[in-house]
Amino acid sequence: MSADKPLKPDTILTHAGSHPDLNHGAVNPPVYRVSTVVFPSVAAMKEGEKHPFDHMRYGRQGTPTTFAFEEAVTALDGGAGAIATCSGQAAITTTLSGLLRAGDHALIADSAYNPTRRFCSDYLAQCGIEIDYYDPLIGAGIAALIKPNTKIVYTESPGSLTFEIQDIPAIAAAAHEKGALVVIDNTWATGLFFDAFKHGADISVQAATKFLSGHSDAMLGVISCKDRQVWNRLKGFTTFSGMAAGSEELYLGLRGMRTLAVRLRQHQQSGLTVARWLQERPEVARVIHPALPGCPGHEIWKRDFTGACGLFAVELKPCPQEAVHAMVDSLAHFGLGFSWGGYESLILATSGAINRTATNWQPAGPTLRLHIGLEDPEDLIADLARGFAHLGAALGR
Ligand SMILES: Cc1ncc(COP(=O)(O)O)c(C=O)c1O
Repeated sequence: MSADKPLKPDTILTHAGSHPDLNHGAVNPPVYRVSTVVFPSVAAMKEGEKHPFDHMRYGRQGTPTTFAFEEAVTALDGGAGAIATCSGQAAITTTLSGLLRAGDHALIADSAYNPTRRFCSDYLAQCGIEIDYYDPLIGAGIAALIKPNTKIVYTESPGSLTFEIQDIPAIAAAAHEKGALVVIDNTWATGLFFDAFKHGADISVQAATKFLSGHSDAMLGVISCKDRQVWNRLKGFTTFSGMAAGSEELYLGLRGMRTLAVRLRQHQQSGLTVARWLQERPEVARVIHPALPGCPGHEIWKRDFTGACGLFAVELKPCPQEAVHAMVDSLAHFGLGFSWGGYESLILATSGAINRTATNWQPAGPTLRLHIGLEDPEDLIADLARGFAHLGAALGR
């Protein structure tokens, strides 16, 4: 590998974390099944304490499978270190509870993933941490909300239900001026389509359950840190809060990363094909897709992102929920599921699931979230066309 020319993301994704020299020539770092680690002497055991997180000491602190996955994420994100966790939600809760103390204040994007909101409102607030929600489109205006005790500005760009793209550079400039850290949930774009650290974030959390794993068969999260001191704090906290990931999931996460670039580009292309088709449908009031004009923050997406995945929302023209349910139930190629990021297409009726307190979110009618998988988009479009026929039949048309 050349030291003078930075490697391209596709090359990093292909090789980072692979150490055949340490694994008998095996290309893929194997699943190390470890709880107990034994040492040849007390002196060797004590030596390990000098670098508690870089060597095997006990399964929860990481195995070579953990280190390989973390190394690959660090290389892609261009950060100082990553920490694998047992789910995406664990990455979020570990980051927030590891960095906030009673008396601190955190600003949370109003568009944040619902369980993130619940953790902040139902748990952190009871621990004496002040929580305020803010308009995700606030940009530099966040400065007015930052208090002397604000420690974290939490962002999710785009929001995974409403898809507003946030102005991370402007938010980071304001937060850093007041000494607050910026956290981003970067699950939608991954480090491939959004360079979180270059745009000012300090910590990027991801549900690796989604695109990194990519095959709907693993629960995994990752906290990626720009700064080694923050990494050290959060690695320690992850270890003693017991949030470590299992080796099988880590293996699947790293294996998924090998094909992330080709999968994500295909999700992007097929997603746009389906989104543009939906825009022409008479039943559709609005398609909210960050790569299409009209999506809140689309201009920022054009400025800061290098791509879009296949997850977006559709607002239908007003009609009864039962008609929408008839449509969704009739689909053959769209699974009805809460997740996304796997190879298969999914659909979710999101009306009623959108929870806002700082801003008002008023869709034109019932809303759907679509994750466009790796099927041929023509088949997906034909399926949706049949679905609209069912919607029409339910409406008596
Ligand atoms: C945006 C976002 N962040 C975090 C998570 C949590 O990830 P996990 O399900 O792996 O805990 C999800 C899960 O759907 C998500 O959509």
